[in-house]
Amino acid sequence: MALERTLSIIKPDAVAKNVIGQIYTRFEQAGLKIVAARMKHLSRAEAEGFYAVHRERPFFNALVEFMISGPVMIQVLEGEDAVRKNRELMGATNPKEAAPGTIRADFAESIDANAVHGSDSLENAAIEIAYFFPATDVYSR
Ligand code: PPS
Repeated sequence: MALERTLSIIKPDAVAKNVIGQIYTRFEQAGLKIVAARMKHLSRAEAEGFYAVHRERPFFNALVEFMISGPVMIQVLEGEDAVRKNRELMGATNPKEAAPGTIRADFAESIDANAVHGSDSLENAAIEIAYFFPATDVYSR
């Protein structure tokens, strides 16, 4: 299986809950390496740009407001099958539907404050990683 990279964001709700370390442990225990990381309070323009594909969806404004409500922790995860593996660790978008033991089941309160983001395809992962990290700031290990 191919070595992949994916973009992960620990959202403002989970940062405020002080569970960055617990979420990082899950990545590491699943064999995913953190090869880039930064904490950032997104501007409105940055959040709107990141979620531009969802601009026409009814929840777009709520999603942007939430993502700029506090700092987020952004990381690149590297490992075998990293895109799918991270999505599995995250659980379903709606925490009420997320499988027990997933990040969203354990740390998220609602569909609009759902603890983490993860790229949904290898193609989008490359776009999302480049949105936040210059290639020179990603350290393959
Ligand atoms: S996903 O995770 O991309 O497959 O889910 P999708 O349903 O396409 O949702 C896209 C992003 O929008 C968020 N979302 C919402 N935010 C606020 N309110 C509601 N109702 C809502 N529904 C979906 C969802 O968490 C996705 O954000 P990210 O950051 O990618 O998880």
